[in-house]
Order: sequence, then C-alpha cells, then structure tokens
Amino acid sequence: MTIDTKSLLNWVGGKRLLRKTIEPLVPKDIQSYIEPFGGAGWVLFYKERWADLEIYNDLDGRLVNLFRIVKYHPEALKDELKYLLGSREMFMQFINTDGITDIQKAARFMFLITRSFGGRGETYGTVKKSSGGASKSQGNILLKIDAIHKRLDKVLVENRDFEKLISQYDFEGAFFYCDPPYTFGCGYETTSTKDFDHERLKEILKNIKGRFLLSYDDSEKVRELYKDYEMIAIERLNGINNKDRKNKMFKELLIANYPIKET
Ligand SMILES: C[S@@+](CC[C@H](N)C(=O)[O-])C[C@H]1O[C@@H](n2cnc3c(N)ncnc32)[C@H](O)[C@@H]1O
Repeated sequence: MTIDTKSLLNWVGGKRLLRKTIEPLVPKDIQSYIEPFGGAGWVLFYKERWADLEIYNDLDGRLVNLFRIVKYHPEALKDELKYLLGSREMFMQFINTDGITDIQKAARFMFLITRSFGGRGETYGTVKKSSGGASKSQGNILLKIDAIHKRLDKVLVENRDFEKLISQYDFEGAFFYCDPPYTFGCGYETTSTKDFDHERLKEILKNIKGRFLLSYDDSEKVRELYKDYEMIAIERLNGINNKDRKNKMFKELLIANYPIKET
C-alpha cells in the first residue's frame, strides 16, 4: 500500500476526491495561487507547485497552528507525536488543550483528527475491518509530516477571514481557489454553516481583479448567486463525513470567472 503524502489529515469537506477534476481547470499563467478556505489543503498539496507565490489560509486557528508547526518545527512535532499512544483514554484527555504549548496543541489536534470518526475530532474512531481511524499507522503519520514540511517551504500560512485575505492578495495575476462551507448542514469550529455569509463571499468575488474557481454544493441558492458565471455540474459518491448522505451521489458545482467549460 502506498501512503498518500500529499495530505496530512482528513477534513470535513476535504477535496480529496475533487483534486483531479480541479487541477486541469486552474489556469497555467497565474502568478499567485491562494486558498482562502484551505482546510486540510488537499488541492494545494496535490501539486508540487501551483505558482511562484502560494498562500494557505483558514479561519480555524487549530489548523493554522498545525501547518505553522509542520512548517517550522517538524522534528519537535514528530517527537511529541511519537509518544502518543492510540488509546481511547488519551483521546478523551486531549479534547482539553488548556495550558499547553503550540507544539503540543498541534500534536494533539493532529492526533484527534487522524484518530477520530470521520476526521471530526469528536469521537474515538474504532474500526472493525480497515486500518483507518484509531488503528492508523503512527509511522505513516510521521512520514506525511516530512512530506508536508517540504511542500510548505515557500507557502505563506495565513489565519484571516476570507474577505480580508482576498482583498489583501488580489491583483490581475492572482488566482483564488475557494472552497467555502457548503450551504447545508456541516458546520466548522469557526463558522457554523448558519453563520457563513455566502452573499458576502459573492460580493467580494464579483469585484476582484484576479481569477477565481469556486467549489460548492449544487443547490438553488448557489446557482442563483452565481448565475452570471460559468458553471460545471459534477457528481461523485459521497464519503464518510456526513452520515445522512453517505454512499449517495453528491452533486457539486465548479464555478469560475473565466472560461472553464471547454476544459
Ligand atoms: C470545505 S472546507 C475546505 C476544505 C479544503 N478545501 C480541503 O480540501 O481540505 C471550508 C473551510 O473554510 C473555513 N472557514 C469557514 N469560515 C471561514 C472564513 N470566514 N474565512 C476563512 N475560512 C473560513 C473552515 O474552517 C473550513 O476549514
């Protein structure tokens, strides 16, 4: 079995299954590649390099801390993780992070996400058949840290709200791959789905000088908001992260402010 070193974690809404579809739609002449909703960075890490300047951003400080520690202190993180046993008791203890260092926080966060059910960091992920959840190999996790440490070498890691981030890095040569929370159900630590302002994102994207590619759930609301743009509808089998929708076909939209249909 080969280890996928192009990722560090599972993440709710992670674009592991969409990476291959997205890659050919990203223009080749971009000068910067920016992910305002970076999550686990599945698309960013898919390629060795997308542009001279690359920016990972997420509002969730736990993710940002983890990627900063992977970038600047990988050995300390690996040392911390080496001694974490995959036990239920430890898992429950780690949900509390008061009074610990950023390196410890990163290690515990990674431990919780990689060993929990569906990558949600909430319930201990016991499995009956596969080598997933709590039974994941600790050795493979350490190898992934090395790979992502290298990949992050020239990537800027930001922790801002999308609006500020997009305004800060926008120019004619900029490219934004935007993967915001979907318009239904699964909330995030920072923004539950109810709070996420989809209209605000549309207003920001409407006025940018650069180009954007957006991935969303295929819903009336999204189709209405982005009716003036090119859209591609795609369907894929849903993964484990949402139990009501598991194993059902899931419809998504890819939307851009440049031609994507012919690609
Ligand atoms: C669908 S996920 C991104 C998944 C990512 N593309 C991947 O492959 O792992 C959406 C992300 O947006 C982040 N987020 C929510 N509200 C935000 C905001 N206002 N500004 C920036 N990021 C935000 C969440 O923390 C979450 O990680």
